[in-house]
Amino acid sequence: MFKIIEKQELAPTLKLFRVEAPMIARRAQPGQFVILRVHEQGERIPLTIADFDREQGTITLVFQEVGHSTQLLGALAVGDSIPDLLGPLGEPTEHPEGKNVVCIGGGVGVAPVYPEAKALHEQGYNVTTIIGARTAELLFFEAEMAAVSNQAFVTTDDGSKGHKGFVTDVLQKLIDEGKKPDFVIAVGPIPMMRAVAELTRKYEIKTIVSLNSMMVDGTGMCGGCRVTVGGEVKFTCVDGPAFDAHELDFDEQVRRLEMYKEMEKKVGGEC
Ligand SMILES: Cc1cc2nc3c(=O)[nH]c(=O)nc-3n(C[C@H](O)[C@H](O)[C@H](O)COP(=O)(O)OP(=O)(O)OC[C@H]3O[C@@H](n4cnc5c(N)ncnc54)[C@H](O)[C@@H]3O)c2cc1C
Ligand code: FES
Repeated sequence: MFKIIEKQELAPTLKLFRVEAPMIARRAQPGQFVILRVHEQGERIPLTIADFDREQGTITLVFQEVGHSTQLLGALAVGDSIPDLLGPLGEPTEHPEGKNVVCIGGGVGVAPVYPEAKALHEQGYNVTTIIGARTAELLFFEAEMAAVSNQAFVTTDDGSKGHKGFVTDVLQKLIDEGKKPDFVIAVGPIPMMRAVAELTRKYEIKTIVSLNSMMVDGTGMCGGCRVTVGGEVKFTCVDGPAFDAHELDFDEQVRRLEMYKEMEKKVGGEC
């Protein structure tokens, strides 16, 4: 049993849990995730390890309530326990050469990009962060991201905070100003990661994206999280979740996400 020791509402339908999980906290690396179930017959929910504290033996999870299972999870309170929590899963993110990095988080993608920025900052990289949301109310981890950045930017689609527009606008501006990074890490919705990849491809900037593919077993056996990278079949759960954005078949990812939409509606979700 994994006890919830802190709960925060970061934005409407966006929750943060700090959970007692000493074995996972001890081994967790940026880029890895857990798979949990709210009850024994429950659906498996993959969530990025947004932060970990090895001394306290805790991990932090940030999740959006998008369907039935995440709503059940969100209904848990401090003192309740998650019965089934497996991890750390996936490969830690490998970094290309160079010390100048831009970390981009869009929407809930800010949660998975935060541990990347934090680790790189601790290792002495020059970290620029750009976080984006549709509107100011949906922004979170602003202070946390700023604390691990040499330069931090915020964008909102509606201009309610920071730059009005997309995260890619800020990245383009940095490049135009001669601040071309050695590599970029971008996590968020597929259209955002794709837009970042298209921009960086023009400038030959190595780019890593992290996928939230549909997962069933999380062991590389079911094929649910298949991706094609550089013409090779990979599985997000065991080979990822981070991949080279310029090698990734984004069209396939869009098709696969569409494929599961009808099924999600049938089980009560609204993804
Ligand atoms: C590796 C990984 C781990 C994840 N882990 C979790 C998790 O732990 N918990 C969880 O709940 N979910 C997780 N997700 C889910 C995922 O982050 C969300 O489904 C996704 O961010 C959608 O968020 P949103 O609806 O708020 O995006 P939106 O509000 O639609 O977009 C957010 C921002 O992205 C940018 N953007 C959007 N479209 C474009 C475009 N065409 N061009 C340029 N910029 C664009 C904009 O700045 C926009 O404001 C994870 C995803 C990934 C990839
Ligand atoms: S979740 Fe089954 S192969 Fe990845």
